[in-house]
Amino acid sequence: MEWTRAKRYLPYSAWSADKILNLQQQTAASDYRFYYHIGPTSGLLNDPNGFSFFNGQWHLFYQSFPFGAVHGLKSWFHLVSDDLIHWDKKGITLKPDSKYDSHGAYSGSARVINDKLFIMYTGNVRDNNWQRHPYQNGAWLDKDNHLTKLSQPLFGQPAHTTDHFRDPQLLELNGTYYALLGAQDKDTLKGQIALFSSSDLKEWKDLGYLKFTTADMGYMIECPSLVFVENKPILIFCPQGLNKEVTSYENIYPNVFILGDTIDLNKGTFTALNTTPHNLDDGFDVYATQAFNAPDGKAYAVSWVGLPDISYPTDGENWAHCLSQVKELHIKNGKLHQRPVPAMASLRTEGKHLSSNNEKGKKTFLVKQASQHYELKLTLPPQQNGKLHLAATEDLAHSLELEFSTGKNAFLNVKRQKAGTLFAEKYGTKRSLVLDANKTLNLDIFFDNSVCEIFVNDGLNVLTLRLFPQRKQDNIILESNSTLNYNGTWWNLKKTN
Ligand code: FRU
Repeated sequence: MEWTRAKRYLPYSAWSADKILNLQQQTAASDYRFYYHIGPTSGLLNDPNGFSFFNGQWHLFYQSFPFGAVHGLKSWFHLVSDDLIHWDKKGITLKPDSKYDSHGAYSGSARVINDKLFIMYTGNVRDNNWQRHPYQNGAWLDKDNHLTKLSQPLFGQPAHTTDHFRDPQLLELNGTYYALLGAQDKDTLKGQIALFSSSDLKEWKDLGYLKFTTADMGYMIECPSLVFVENKPILIFCPQGLNKEVTSYENIYPNVFILGDTIDLNKGTFTALNTTPHNLDDGFDVYATQAFNAPDGKAYAVSWVGLPDISYPTDGENWAHCLSQVKELHIKNGKLHQRPVPAMASLRTEGKHLSSNNEKGKKTFLVKQASQHYELKLTLPPQQNGKLHLAATEDLAHSLELEFSTGKNAFLNVKRQKAGTLFAEKYGTKRSLVLDANKTLNLDIFFDNSVCEIFVNDGLNVLTLRLFPQRKQDNIILESNSTLNYNGTWWNLKKTN
């Protein structure tokens, strides 16, 4: 079937219940579905939206096009959770059904205001000439998860941006509301973060752009997300077209962060000791990360595990992508760390302790015929060199290879060249981390059928990736030319969805 523009933007009512059921069944039957990650019920999932804590539960939405693995008319699919790991699917709550979001309920955020959840999102509107008119819209979600849209937009496109103006993050600081938005400047056609303020959510004041760097941030910034971690502001965003000399990255578009020092939203300033953006994730597939501070002050983040403008192997099955697990943000030794939430440990079932067997120059089967949904913790002391193969066939013809050295020139390479169906090779099949010389390497690896999240050294780095292995790729093998020292545990993980 060809996805013409007309087809992508058909009203939801034009799709039959039968067609949707078929798509849902096809998605559920896929070999690449998840045990404990959020995937789409059908069609395409992209950005996490409206991540919040409301009415005693965690709320999370994702950008959804439920009718196929393409970007079309978007809505928000709603999930709630008691523990950040078991998610109850509530279905599509925010539909593109009004004059101000006729071509998509695009990304946005949510905040609890007076016993209700206020949702701020971008209404994507196209006119007859297919010219885009972005509106920043509001909606209230009540305690029964009933959503009511405001009849008028909060504000439209300012004179100083192009029509690339979207993804509001609503913040409240000292009694004033602020919205950060991804934008493209009209004169320079450069990426910016636009800043608006309001005392009542009705009248909005344009504060211009957030001053957070003097470097060129590419041609468009998407999905800004400001969060406080141990009292420091952290700015997370997606600068499209970022010069690789500013920040080195290999994915089509990066998702970066700047660890700040001070922020003054009235003045529009964000200062940092080092304003160079860093990759938030060193793997292959993270984008549009959304973070927020929970009522207890803790900072949580969740990412889209997928990228714009890239085809994925499940496109042929009419569904695509997933969300990352929720990550807790911390600052340790002045550096951002992303960790699994503690509740993840409750998914562990039978475990297997792993330690060095002192065989030299051998392939060691750490786990034979492992399930495809597990956690693997491995500690490698200094002076170790080898390869850890996940999703490996016995002969190692196929595997996701983690090549490491904890010696003088310490590194971790993640290679997905032989991990299964190839995709996005144009952007490289290897990702590398330079590690501190002669230091212990701690890996906490979460594997879930077609997604893998590798937390390195207590979350100082995370490498997230999709992979599409064959069923027989179910061994975990360590390979080394010399005697390896290691210690760890493998746990089978329970299903949450
Ligand atoms: C990022 C993005 C956002 C937009 C949304 C539309 O992936 O392009 O900028 O709001 O996706 O689905």
